[in-house]
Amino acid sequence: MAGAPSDKKKFRSQEWFDNPDNPGMTALYLERYLNYGLTRAELQSGKPLIGIAQTGSDLSPCNRHHLELAKRVREGIVAAGGIPFEFPCHPIQETGKRPTAALDRNLAYLSLVEVLYGYPLDGVVLTIGCDKTTPAMLMAAATVNIPAIALSVGPMLNGWHKGKRTGSGTIVWESRQRLSAGEIDYDEFMEIVASSAPSVGYCNTMGTATTMNSLAEALGMQLPGSAAIPAPYRERGQIAYETGKRIVDMVHEDLKPSDIMTREAFENAIVVNSAIGGSTNAPIHLNAIARHLGVRLDNDDWQAIGHKIPLLVNLQPAGEYLGEDYHHAGGVPAVVAELMKAGLLPHPGAVTANGRTMGENCGKAENLDPKVILPVAEPLKKEAGFINLKGNLFDSAIMKTSVISKEFRDRYLSNPDDPEAFEGKAAVFDGPEDYHARIDDPAEGIDEYTILFMRGAGPVGYPGGAEVVNMQPPAYLIKKGVHSLPCVGDGRQSGTSGTPSILNASPEAAAGGGLALLQKGDRVRIDLRKGTADMLVPEDELARRRAALNGNGGYHYPQHQTPWQEIQRSMVDQFSEGMVLKPAVKYQDVAHT
Ligand code: FES
Ligand code: MG
Repeated sequence: MAGAPSDKKKFRSQEWFDNPDNPGMTALYLERYLNYGLTRAELQSGKPLIGIAQTGSDLSPCNRHHLELAKRVREGIVAAGGIPFEFPCHPIQETGKRPTAALDRNLAYLSLVEVLYGYPLDGVVLTIGCDKTTPAMLMAAATVNIPAIALSVGPMLNGWHKGKRTGSGTIVWESRQRLSAGEIDYDEFMEIVASSAPSVGYCNTMGTATTMNSLAEALGMQLPGSAAIPAPYRERGQIAYETGKRIVDMVHEDLKPSDIMTREAFENAIVVNSAIGGSTNAPIHLNAIARHLGVRLDNDDWQAIGHKIPLLVNLQPAGEYLGEDYHHAGGVPAVVAELMKAGLLPHPGAVTANGRTMGENCGKAENLDPKVILPVAEPLKKEAGFINLKGNLFDSAIMKTSVISKEFRDRYLSNPDDPEAFEGKAAVFDGPEDYHARIDDPAEGIDEYTILFMRGAGPVGYPGGAEVVNMQPPAYLIKKGVHSLPCVGDGRQSGTSGTPSILNASPEAAAGGGLALLQKGDRVRIDLRKGTADMLVPEDELARRRAALNGNGGYHYPQHQTPWQEIQRSMVDQFSEGMVLKPAVKYQDVAHT
């Protein structure tokens, strides 16, 4: 464990508020923090000052409940002898931000780094929840490296419609198909979708939010059992209080993000991600957090460590249940315990925020509902982790094998001589608008053996990377019973979607990737066993096509709409590299430099 308790050590906040060597600056720093009722005695008491990085607001409904929870966090901080300072973070609402919330992850990261570095904070509670808020907070804590603990806002209650569970996002994809097929009308569509959001909290499916909150716990950055508690439950307020208490002790112990988020912790998180059926956004975000810590982690690691791990958690979209069920079954500790029983957790000795190891926290956790969290011997699916595909289309792209449907397997993977390879002809769309304009046009010739390609949707192309690769087939195919076609693209896919997709292709078309060369009708071969994805186009023809491209890495992308779009596009790395801001990575441990 890092650092022995060091009560005598001067906290960094004392450089602002109690520095006799510089009385002028100390007075200037101090006086304005007295003007709302803090006393000089408090600020010069030597107690640690604890930030509460508040991501909740009216603009961010998924995280809005943190406005309430922060009251319990404050009480915990005070009870343990700290002084709370709550401050707002840049809002990131997955469903509300144009052109995409992913554009703002790095902006929220940058602004939190400035706050944690530039103000008198000795530790911080990171209020996480909606998709990008979790990585943004953890990336900033990684860069600054002051003691930090995450607090999830918790998922919404289960959604219900006519006696059936309706899960966030997943119900949109399902109902959109029913709307296209004429089975329901516009009003019923709206009513069904609204039923999936019955309370405060974030998406109740195993989308990116439940994934990233579970992984924040698996990394050791939350108290055990914290991730899965639904937002309105009393335990949510109780864990907020415990989290506030614990961060004060972490400051006394000098237990920092770099002590917790080690290579071992990331390996544990990759294994947990497979077991929960986690989102394909997870590699982007964890690779980013690792880069800001200087920990080596790439998409080959995700396949090598994660692919063979079975899917245990039976949550939509891969399974049946929702967030409340996950919590009642035991949440992350119960998943980790099942993995440990089978010897699949690589590093039970990894230290966590409560000062104990992952193994100590979870080893004896009980699985309270084996329908929701299955044992390793009877998983929902074997070998459920990601495959990292490579070829002349891209250097790296992620495929989530746990959502490959029976329909898909029967149609594409049924050749007994070559059960894991499929070929199809390409239909190519340049961004979501182009897809919507052309998908239903019979002249495009899309049939049940077509592979749909989406390009121009990566970190540079979109900008920020759009969640648009999960494309639904033309309405005329859905009416014939073809509910999904394989989709490949340089954008992302919502973690709540069950489409069998190959995502996050890097480099993207706008950065000179092979996807820029693909043309309608090209044969494409994807071999899941070999991990390859190639257009079956001769080398000389590809060279001719590359020569015919011009500008923007060979691929046209839309104009910037805001200053941040231009700034981010000029320095953002590819999805496989975590979509980080390239110049930011060299700044590590900045509180101590
Ligand atoms: Fe915020 Fe899903 S939209 S968690
Ligand atoms: Mg999402």
